[in-house]
Formats: sequence, structure tokens, C-alpha cells
Amino acid sequence: MEVALDELRQAAETSARVGGEILQSWASRFTSREKSPANLVTEADIASQEAIESFLRERYPDHQLLGEENLLEEGNDSAYRWIIDPLDGTGNYVHRFPYYAVSIGLEYAGRLIVGAIYDPNRDEMFSAAEGCGATLNEEPIAVSNSTQASEAMCMASLPIRSDRNHPAVRRFLNALESVQSVQRSGSAALNLCSVACGRVDAFWSNSLNAWDMAAGVVIVREAGGQVSTTDGAEFDVNEADLLSSNGTDLHGALVDILALHD
Ligand code: IPD
Ligand code: CA
Ligand code: CA
Repeated sequence: MEVALDELRQAAETSARVGGEILQSWASRFTSREKSPANLVTEADIASQEAIESFLRERYPDHQLLGEENLLEEGNDSAYRWIIDPLDGTGNYVHRFPYYAVSIGLEYAGRLIVGAIYDPNRDEMFSAAEGCGATLNEEPIAVSNSTQASEAMCMASLPIRSDRNHPAVRRFLNALESVQSVQRSGSAALNLCSVACGRVDAFWSNSLNAWDMAAGVVIVREAGGQVSTTDGAEFDVNEADLLSSNGTDLHGALVDILALHD
């Protein structure tokens, strides 16, 4: 790897914080519009991404950039790809529900190596680098140790406007019968952070994009957790299929609970 991991982690943290400050500066004056039905975007999403893009582009002009708001920079054949969600939880932001974040992940040669997620409402910076552990405001964090589904607090993301027969809804209902609770919060990035620091035991979704997951996956893994697809196969950030957990026997139990049999 050509650039030191620690430097890359610092860059991820700084850019996440820059984005978070912009979100807060727009909080009393933004307007929102629908990109598609019930899928919102605001000036804050765009301004946050522009600031992150210019920070990263100045530092690493050759790196690839992928951001939710129509950002695709191929870079100069670089093995590095920054994966950016300038505002994860736009629906919450618009309703002033204080659960949203900036998520900055970094891939090297197809491997997720760095993640930083900044929650500007709690001033919480989650970050991790491959092999170096995960931290919350620079203190090490670890996943929970619960093993029983019946004692597990879980989180799930459902697709926008999914009907009652949608597989994600059926999985959600199945899980309600088996686990202690299933929360739905509106920010996949913060859900992954919640798994990483043991506030919840698991989080799953079949409807996420790379920018919702990249940083959080590194943070969960480095906090000692496990990430796979919902059927227990190897996770791929380019596929919308994620099960994250504390990595105990709970993980396998959730694979069984989430399996649809018809
Ligand atoms: C959304 C959030 C939400 C998830 C959606 C995402 P956005 O991201 O992560 O939790 O359920 O699928 O699109 O649109 O607020 O960046
Ligand atoms: Ca998102
Ligand atoms: Ca977003």
C-alpha cells in the first residue's frame, strides 16, 4: 500500500467531520426535494459531498471517488476508492430527528481498509483501519457478547415504500417473533456503529448501497464483529445484502431466522 494506513484513517475522519459541520450549518435553512418518491435530498447533502470531495481530491488527486450524490471519479488508475455518503439519514435530517451521520469508507484493491462515521449531533467519531481496531472518539470499542437471539436487540433497514409482502418485510416480521426487539432508525451507517460499540447486537438489510455500508463494515469488523450476507455468505460491498452482528453464535442464529422458506 502506497499511503500509510494511519494517514488514510486521519483523512477519513477529517473529511467526515468537515461534512458533519456543513450538515449542522444547513440545519435551519435547508429545503428538500424528492429524488424519487419518498427519497429525499437537501442542499446539505450536496454541500457536504462537495466539501468532502474537494478535501479528498486535493490530498489524493489520483484516487477514485464514489459518492451518493452523482459523484463518480475514476481517478488515475488508482487502487484506492473512497466511498462517500455525505448525509446518511436524510429523512431523519429533514424531520429534525437527530440520527444521521457522514460516512467515509476507503477500499484498496477491492478490500475495505478504512472507515470513519461522524455523528454531528452527539459529536461522536467512529473510526477504524484494517488490523488497527475500532474507536469512538479515540477510545477503543468492542461489540456486545450476547449469544441468544431472544436477548438480542437488533436493527433493520427496509426499502422505501416496501409493501407487506416484500421479502424484507417478511424477514422483519419473522425476526420480531424470535429476537428481543427490532429497531428501524433511518441511518444504516449509525446502525453499523451501534453494532460496533455494543449498543445493539445486530443489524441487517437487503436494500443498501455501497456508501451506506463501506465505512461501517470496517468499523464493525475491527470492533470484533462479523459481517456477511443475510444467508451467511461472504459480504460484497457492491451487493445490497448485509448481516452484521457481534460475531457470536447469534450470527448463525440470525441467518436461520432471516431465511425465507417459500
Ligand atoms: C438511507 C439510510 C436508511 C436506509 C436507506 C438508505 P440516505 O440512506 O441509510 O437507513 O434504510 O436504504 O438509503 O438515503 O439517508 O443516505
Ligand atoms: Ca445512505
Ligand atoms: Ca445519503
